[in-house]
Amino acid sequence: MIESLKKLQESALSELQSVETIEQLDALVLKYFGRSKGLLNNVLKNIKNLSESDRRTLGAQANEVKVAIWKLIDEKRNEIRSKNKPEFLDLTATGKTTLGHLHPITQMSKEIKEVFRSMGYSVLVGPEIESDYYNFEALNIPSEHPARDMFDTFYVKDPNPKSKEKLVLRTHTSPMQARVMENYKPPFAVIIPGRTFRNEATDARHEHTFYQVEGLVVDENISLANLKWSLDTLIQKIFGGEIKTQYRPSYFPFTEPSVEVLMSCIFCNQKGCSICSRTGWLEVLGAGMVHPKVFEVAGYPKGKYSGFAFGLGIMRFAMLKYNIPDIRMFHQNDARLLKQF
Ligand code: DAH
Repeated sequence: MIESLKKLQESALSELQSVETIEQLDALVLKYFGRSKGLLNNVLKNIKNLSESDRRTLGAQANEVKVAIWKLIDEKRNEIRSKNKPEFLDLTATGKTTLGHLHPITQMSKEIKEVFRSMGYSVLVGPEIESDYYNFEALNIPSEHPARDMFDTFYVKDPNPKSKEKLVLRTHTSPMQARVMENYKPPFAVIIPGRTFRNEATDARHEHTFYQVEGLVVDENISLANLKWSLDTLIQKIFGGEIKTQYRPSYFPFTEPSVEVLMSCIFCNQKGCSICSRTGWLEVLGAGMVHPKVFEVAGYPKGKYSGFAFGLGIMRFAMLKYNIPDIRMFHQNDARLLKQF
């Protein structure tokens, strides 16, 4: 009997080693300790037929074997359980989370606003769903105008329920120029930061949803020199005092003359690199003197006022300042990028 007890112990131990699931473990327990057919119980049943002294030694040994096997079974059970434990998310845990911070777009937007505030500009906001009138018509972009091509957008199906105007997701913050002029009498200097949309085939430099800052200054005797001072100040405060700027003729329907503003390449110090296409210059924004047609639409007396306007891309500024190679990265919410700010 001692022999068969030993064999039982050995076979139980070797079977235990290949057990991987709780179900297999339960089957093994039944096989050895089952009440009627359990192998160990079968051996123990015969103990009663032995002499008293044999019974005592064998009983003690059988008990040892039993305890030893049960110990291993318990260990196995714990091992399987800890392997299959579902990940535990303790929402009440304190002190384990990392502190969040402002998104790089928000950081850049705040920086730009600060610079303009320091020059005496006020900050306004405008609607993201805009009427076709303010987005285009009031800015001298009539419906058949070719400039509409570069401003293709998402059209809202239903018109404004009250005014019946056609609605679009604004393609730029420029419609606020017309709204501001309708509501304020010069002199004023305002900026309007906000989200804008275009029907773009997205790539490293184009997103369907992006952010702009519009600027508008109107008074008597405002000149291109005033425009240049404001924008030079902006660029030098954001990118550094040593930056050079260049103003090139350009075209926008709502400004005349229009300019494209470039700054000296901050990546290669104008030696020529792939980011500035080896020109030494980076385009940073569009601007110009307010077109007489736009003043006319606003109902301002002819010839009394002059002014300048500009529009810049906040993401473009952030890409250049923080050296982010692809505009689509801003909305991917990849912690590896965001953690760097
Ligand atoms: N709205 C123009 C765009 O999104 C940018 C712009 C250019 C705004 C010239 C202006 C301006 O106010 O004067 O492409």
